[in-house]
Amino acid sequence: MISTDINLAVQHLNENGIIGFPTETVYGLAGNAFETEAIHKIFDVKKRPTFNPLIVHIKGIEDLEQVAQEIPPIAYELATAFWPGPLTMILKKQPHIPDLVTANQDTVAIRVPNHPVALELLKHLDFPLVAPSANPFTSISPTSAEHVENYFGNQINMVLDGGECLAGIESTIVGFDDNSVVVYRLGALALEEIEKVSGKVALLNKKKKHPVAPGMLLKHYSPKTDFILTRNVHQELEWYSDKKVGLLLFNSFLPECDSNNQIVLSEESDLQLAASRLYNAMHQLDKMNLDVILAERLPEYGLGVSINDRLERASKK
Ligand code: TXA
Ligand code: MG
Repeated sequence: MISTDINLAVQHLNENGIIGFPTETVYGLAGNAFETEAIHKIFDVKKRPTFNPLIVHIKGIEDLEQVAQEIPPIAYELATAFWPGPLTMILKKQPHIPDLVTANQDTVAIRVPNHPVALELLKHLDFPLVAPSANPFTSISPTSAEHVENYFGNQINMVLDGGECLAGIESTIVGFDDNSVVVYRLGALALEEIEKVSGKVALLNKKKKHPVAPGMLLKHYSPKTDFILTRNVHQELEWYSDKKVGLLLFNSFLPECDSNNQIVLSEESDLQLAASRLYNAMHQLDKMNLDVILAERLPEYGLGVSINDRLERASKK
C-alpha cells in the first residue's frame, strides 16, 4: 500500500514491521536497526544474502556516536560538509549494533538521508533505520513509491510516498584508513566534491590491502532484458538489425531508430539530471518487451563516473 501517512509508518516500524521509504538517492526498505526480527524480514523480502551488510540511517550528526566509535576527525569534517546528503561512512561500530546489520564485521555504514519525509520519519522514532535499496537482490533500484510497490506489494507493511528521488543513484560510500579516505562505492556524491574537503581519495578496489567490500557485486542494478553498454550506440546498432532494440542515450536521440524505444537522459548534458532519471529509464525500457537495450557510456567525470559504474554492473551477465 502506498501512503503519505507518516504516523502509520511510525506505527509499523514500532511494531517491527518493514516499509518502503523515500530518500534523496533511492527508496529504501526500512526497519528498526536494533531489532533483529525486523532486520531478518528485510533480508528475506529482498532475498539478500546475510553476508551483505546494511546502511544505518540516522537523523543527524548528533546521533553519530550512538552508532559509531573511534571516529577520525576527517569523518566529522565530511559529515559536516555533506550531511544530510548522499554520503555513507563506514566506521567502527558501537557494540550494541546487531551483527546482522554489519554482517559480523566490526564496522557499520552510516548516513543521514537528505529527504524531508525521511528526516521527519526519523525524528518520530527513537531508533535509527537500517535500509538497503528497496529492490530484490541484483535488480534495478527504485526511485519512486510505485517501483517499490511493484516489487514488493503485500510483502511489506507500506510504502511511504515521498515523490521521485532527486539524486536517483545510491549514496557514495567511504571508509577511512587512519585519517585518509577510501571510496568503497561510487555514487550520488561526486568524488571531486569529497576531495574538496579531504584531499585526494583512494578507490578501494585499486588498494590491494583492503578486502573488496561485500555487496560490491559485479552484477547489480540489472534489467531482465539483455543490456549492452557501448561508447558508440550508432555503430553497435549494426549488430542488432534484426532485433527489437531499446536505446538509453545521454543527450541526443538517434534519428534512424524508432523514437518510442529511445530514452535520452538529459538533452542539456546535465549529469545530475541524468543520474536522477537513470533507474526510471531502465525500469521503463525493461517493461517494453525488447530483445536488447543498448546503453551509451557517459562522460567520465563527476557523476558520469558513478552512472557508468551502474551501467557497467547492469550489463554484466
Ligand atoms: O543511497 C543509499 O545508500 C541507499 C539508500 C536507501 O540509503 N541504500 C543502499 O543500500 O544503497 P544497499 O544495501 O543497497 O547498499 C549498501 C552497500 C552494500 O553494498 C554493502 O555491502 C555496503 O553498503 N556496506 C554496508 N555496510 C558495510 C560495511 N560495514 N563495510 C563495507 N560495506 C558495507
Ligand atoms: Mg542496493
